[in-house]
Amino acid sequence: MKVLITDRGRDLRQEARPGIIGAVEVGDSGLEEQKPRRAQPVAGKRISVFGLGYVGAVSLACLARDGHRVTGVDIDAFKLNLIRAGKSPILEAGIQELMHDVVASGRVTVTNDAAQAMRDSDLSFVCVGTPSAANGSQDLTAILRLSEQIGTALASKREFHTVVVRSTIQPGTMEERIEPLLERVSGKKSGVDFGLCFQPEFLREGSSIRDYDQPPYTIIGGNCERAVNVVREVFQHIDARFMVTSVRVAEALKMSCNAFHALKITFANEIGRVSQALGVDSHEVMRLVCEDTHLNISPAYLKPGFAFGGSCLPKDLRALTTIARENNLSLPMLSSLLASNRAHIDHAVDKILKLGRPRVGMLGLSFKTGTDDLRESPLVMVAKRLIGEGCELRIFDPEVHLSRLLGANRSYIDAHIPHLGSLLCEHIHEMIDPSEVVLVGLQQPALDAALQARVRPDQYLIDLVNLPNRDLLRCRYEGACW
Ligand SMILES: NC(=O)c1ccc[n+]([C@@H]2O[C@H](COP(=O)([O-])OP(=O)(O)OC[C@H]3O[C@@H](n4cnc5c(N)ncnc54)[C@H](O)[C@@H]3O)[C@@H](O)[C@H]2O)c1
Repeated sequence: MKVLITDRGRDLRQEARPGIIGAVEVGDSGLEEQKPRRAQPVAGKRISVFGLGYVGAVSLACLARDGHRVTGVDIDAFKLNLIRAGKSPILEAGIQELMHDVVASGRVTVTNDAAQAMRDSDLSFVCVGTPSAANGSQDLTAILRLSEQIGTALASKREFHTVVVRSTIQPGTMEERIEPLLERVSGKKSGVDFGLCFQPEFLREGSSIRDYDQPPYTIIGGNCERAVNVVREVFQHIDARFMVTSVRVAEALKMSCNAFHALKITFANEIGRVSQALGVDSHEVMRLVCEDTHLNISPAYLKPGFAFGGSCLPKDLRALTTIARENNLSLPMLSSLLASNRAHIDHAVDKILKLGRPRVGMLGLSFKTGTDDLRESPLVMVAKRLIGEGCELRIFDPEVHLSRLLGANRSYIDAHIPHLGSLLCEHIHEMIDPSEVVLVGLQQPALDAALQARVRPDQYLIDLVNLPNRDLLRCRYEGACW
């Protein structure tokens, strides 16, 4: 059974059908996953590609190479003439030869006439630029202008047409701008008369043909089954998982991937600068950082959740950034981590204060599940702030017993919440029952069951741990950052 998850929460269940290869499984992520298996490209589709820059020119050449008839559209006459002459408008490994071959094959035409290109195709890829505007926001002028032209052309098309946006766009652009615009101008209904999806492009300049053929995965954001299947056919020969998600997730994914890449580069460079200053071999440090595939190069620590804390991360970060300062080095990213962590704690506290309900119960106080270490626990900081704001606090943490806290751990709590003893509850119900807001910072099956059994519809629950089975909670629910 294949399951197509849609952003409206409906499952479009469908049996495997001809033309779709491989078994499909639904993983933890809820995305549709297709086991990779190489197949021949489904050739012979009529495709238009709008915008013939790095993404569009590579797409046009590769689609034509795979046997499709491709019409390229651009407003730049110079680029069109280059392609007509069998030359590539961009410099990329292998693109000149490929462009020459596909143009010679007769499968490529180019035009500045969007309406003609729409008439000559059943599937369009939108690859126009989305550059930065002066204030840093995305300039959507080109893609919105083009959407208007596509909408006009759709109005006079009788056949179903699939529009796939590949330009990088900020989350919400498809549903709030492009889809309504196409519907308004065409007078047609998205998902019925035409299909619309977003397919983030993961190619990198310099290796774009290789990246086109070997993407990390093919992601389609869309809930139009017919359109998704059209895209699936075009990319089915590519040896990569085919995953379907909501349009908004696909839009956010592309921006998140680019942010993550930028973060990785900046991290390695900042570690490089501080290593160099200390006479340490930075390449060896980063090589060994990457050798740890349990905690470093892995999904560990990559789920939205609550702030970090404990006796190591804040202390060692502080030491590293202090070393940098002493060596007159600027490490803006590493130096910003503690401030970002504090902002995350403030975000949770603000959520509680905004509710205007002073009786707050906290489940959990130590810095993570399974320990009674309170040093630099973000939950201690939350408790301290709530007390300062005049909240009436009750705390339950099965691991934390005041009489057993010793040494640095005891001194830390005495310095931050000296009257902790009067706030700690012996049993979870003593914390839940009188509270107007329950803040969950600890996750254990027995505690989850107690929450499910005990919280009431009049109570708010703020979840810092991404509780499983939260649908079973009979209360007003809000996640820390979800
Ligand atoms: N360059 C990359 O490596 C890369 C990778 C992944 C995603 N992206 C994203 O893909 C999109 C395109 O990037 P690019 O680097 O190929 O851009 P680009 O600037 O190289 O090319 C955009 C092309 O669109 C054309 N264009 C503008 N308005 C048009 C219109 N109304 N009709 C037809 N053509 C029009 C321009 O003339 C230009 O040739 C961007 O959103 C970008 O963020 C780029």
